Amino acid sequence: MPKIAVAKNGDVAPGTVRVVEAAGKRIALCNQEGTFYAIDDVCTHDRGPLDQGELIGCEIECPRHGARFDVRTGQATRLPAIIPVKTYPVTVDGDEISVEVPE
Ligand code: FES
Repeated sequence: MPKIAVAKNGDVAPGTVRVVEAAGKRIALCNQEGTFYAIDDVCTHDRGPLDQGELIGCEIECPRHGARFDVRTGQATRLPAIIPVKTYPVTVDGDEISVEVPE
């Protein structure tokens, strides 16, 4: 899978989420206490924008109906979502954050 540079290290503060685009996909880039995770930006319940949600520990809460997903694994951890979101490997090289996304 190609690595696509999506952000600089200072672009996403700890505890926040930013939407980025890679290979035509909207991806929510999450900074969980300095570690970056990348997940699909689309909630599996009813397509809510996860980047607009709150990052609570390792979980992101969908702003629409409150489903939660573990950003490390994509696993749905709270209803009404039951289907996991896709996750993508993230690498940080110096100041540059890249995401591996299938084309
Ligand atoms: S769209 Fe995300 S919980 Fe319904």
